[in-house]
Amino acid sequence: MLGRIIVELEPDYSLLLRRAPDVRQACRDAYGDPDGAPRCVALTELTGVLSARQWHEKGVPIPALGERIHPSYGVFSPVRGEYVDLVAHAPLPSAQVDVAFDLGTGTGVLAALLVRRGVRRVVATDINPRAVRCAEENLARLGHADQTEVVEADLYPSGRADLIVCNPPWLPARPTSALELGIYDPGCDVLHRFLEGLAAHLTPGGEGWLIISDIAEHLGLRTRDDLLRRIAAAGLRVVERLDTAPRHPRAADTADSLHDARSREVTSLWRLAADALPGSR
Ligand SMILES: C[S@@+](CC[C@H](N)C(=O)[O-])C[C@H]1O[C@@H](n2cnc3c(N)ncnc32)[C@H](O)[C@@H]1O
Repeated sequence: MLGRIIVELEPDYSLLLRRAPDVRQACRDAYGDPDGAPRCVALTELTGVLSARQWHEKGVPIPALGERIHPSYGVFSPVRGEYVDLVAHAPLPSAQVDVAFDLGTGTGVLAALLVRRGVRRVVATDINPRAVRCAEENLARLGHADQTEVVEADLYPSGRADLIVCNPPWLPARPTSALELGIYDPGCDVLHRFLEGLAAHLTPGGEGWLIISDIAEHLGLRTRDDLLRRIAAAGLRVVERLDTAPRHPRAADTADSLHDARSREVTSLWRLAADALPGSR
């Protein structure tokens, strides 16, 4: 029933309903400046728009940063802390990392963490323009604008880096919105292209950090063998795998339809290095 309720927004995005909340700023965040015409939206969509505004205002606490990150509408929110902690504690490939890439930066949370860990310069990319703006805002708010550059790009920026971090979407399925670009990756295309391009973008002695959960394996959507085969086929070797268990409440919710898979889920940071420099193989 709720999915069938449509509400009308006035030309300035106000709602002429009794006791209706002021949704104007939330709608401006989601839809841009009003175009002077009324519009209809599904009530469920409007509640999503309002909740995104609240997350944006309140921010998400990131203990590893000791700060809050403010996600925007349509941008993947780092509500799961376990993978952020993996990035906070993994050993850096060298005492001084000059350049790192953060591919699929979302809110910019991992780029900020890398700067905090002493990386001199981070180039972050995302294919979602909302994420690019959101990451720029977060990095500026945290005082890291000078050490970072956020670029709208499909995976890799040009050049090489000593450390390349990528937390790709974890499930092979078709995204239906900008937000879902952070969750679904049809045919594991982003994952495969990250692996295939890694060796050619690393400096000698550099490392790629792939952050991924094995939930797709428990759901029968991907296999561990396939991942290992693709790592080897890309001329990479696994230096180390750091594992952690999800701590979010759904992992322990026995009523969840995916409980079996979620209860076995492990999130890993794969430290990957090039077997040899491309061209010398
Ligand atoms: C799982 S989210 C990770 C976001 C952030 N790095 C974090 O750890 O919270 C994946 C991100 O990758 C981005 N993305 C998806 N496909 C991409 C592509 N082909 N090139 C660049 N970014 C992409 C999504 O928009 C999303 O922001």
